[in-house]
Amino acid sequence: MSWTAEFRVWRGDAEGGELTPYQVEVNEGEVVLDVVHRLQATAAPDLAVRWNCKAGKCGSCSAEINGRPRLMCMTRMSVLPPGEPVTITPMRTFPVLKDLVTDVSFNYAKAREIPSFTPPEGLRPGEYRMQQEDVARSQEFRKCIECFLCQNTCHVVRDHEENKQAFAGPRFLMRVAELEMHPLDAVAGRAATAQEADGLGLCNITKCCTEVCPEHIRITDNALIPLKERAVDRKYDPLVWLGSKITRR
Ligand code: SF4
Ligand code: F3S
Ligand code: FES
Repeated sequence: MSWTAEFRVWRGDAEGGELTPYQVEVNEGEVVLDVVHRLQATAAPDLAVRWNCKAGKCGSCSAEINGRPRLMCMTRMSVLPPGEPVTITPMRTFPVLKDLVTDVSFNYAKAREIPSFTPPEGLRPGEYRMQQEDVARSQEFRKCIECFLCQNTCHVVRDHEENKQAFAGPRFLMRVAELEMHPLDAVAGRAATAQEADGLGLCNITKCCTEVCPEHIRITDNALIPLKERAVDRKYDPLVWLGSKITRR
């Protein structure tokens, strides 16, 4: 079965743009990215869109579909209201390069600010020993495909360019939380740094980041809230940090 849908796609660049309407064929079982590819093959050969895997694993095809941040390759046409126009706009939090492609370098800059995993001195690869619950926690966080939908959605930066300097965003606060809770990480003060330098205090646990995560990572409950608790614990008792590292080994 196939039908014709109206797609309203944002076309433009850093100078500005507008929604452009297209009538386009849709086939049963297709996802939004299929239809965008058909547009490129027919009415809009110069439409810029970023994608790679078409399997929800590369994190490239993030956009806003009917105003909701989603992966285009994982959004079935059948979940959208039938008979209504489909609006596709680029992620709002990042500067537009062209059409649906945004400049996400903000995220790479934030990633570089986080000190990497540092094992205790003298412990060599192969000698690491961890409890299964610690492994499982890291594994959940490491499902992240870096689609940056959570970064795009968080209200702290979504309409507040001025907060970007002071806020690492949920994806990178989650990375800090992973390392802070890692029993073999020897970097001291990660939670305090997150609070003071990475803007953890700006997060008021609205959970919008968790709601849009295509990997269903419980960013707020499993990363941000524990990190906040640790930031408070460390502030009032630095020995708590030392004790947590010693007792978890
Ligand atoms: Fe995307 Fe989820 Fe990773 Fe955020 S945490 S970048 S929403 S996969
Ligand atoms: Fe933003 Fe997620 Fe916190 S949406 S406010 S980082 S819970
Ligand atoms: Fe890779 Fe959509 S194309 S996640």
